[in-house]
Amino acid sequence: MQAPREAAPPARTLLIVWWSATGAARALAEAAERAAGASAPEMIIRRVRCDQTTDNDLLRADALIFACPEMLGSMAGMMKDFFDRTYYPAFERLAGKPYALIVSAGSDGQGAIRQMQRIAAGWRLRPVAEPLLVCTHAQSAEAILADKRLPDSALEQARELGAAIASGVSLGIW
Ligand SMILES: Cc1cc2nc3c(=O)[nH]c(=O)nc-3n(C[C@H](O)[C@H](O)[C@H](O)COP(=O)(O)O)c2cc1C
Repeated sequence: MQAPREAAPPARTLLIVWWSATGAARALAEAAERAAGASAPEMIIRRVRCDQTTDNDLLRADALIFACPEMLGSMAGMMKDFFDRTYYPAFERLAGKPYALIVSAGSDGQGAIRQMQRIAAGWRLRPVAEPLLVCTHAQSAEAILADKRLPDSALEQARELGAAIASGVSLGIW
């Protein structure tokens, strides 16, 4: 008699929540997404813009990456709105999930990182990588408002981050 087949465990999910005004954070999130998929092909990698992300998306994810620009010394307002909407619906239901941050900024970025780290600490998420900060060095209004093209060295850092998070989840390290 044949032994009953064991059901395959459900695929694990990495959720990348992102916002971008001029393309830098979007390019970094996309690079992380592609590298995550390449390093853990059995995982589901979801990249969802923050205004379309719900608390259910967070609850269903096994690992999280938050990617956005710094604006006026803080995370972009759209990203703040995402956290405002989902913070209490997901409160005490995300503890221990691994997470990482990606921030694009002109020259600073620390305000956005600090704010998101505080929120993640409130959720008791587990930081598993140093925040990735990419400065675009735009100074004038014109440069700040222009579409951004990032050097491959910046995209490579996002690829490394995405691959590290996905393979950590896939190998059961976190
Ligand atoms: C309204 C506004 C406010 C900004 N404030 C900051 C800031 O406080 N600190 C900083 O380093 N960059 C600041 N920047 C620059 C952006 O963070 C930078 O251009 C970044 O690359 C934008 O990312 P994105 O291309 O993903 O939108 C600001 C840009 C805008 C449009």
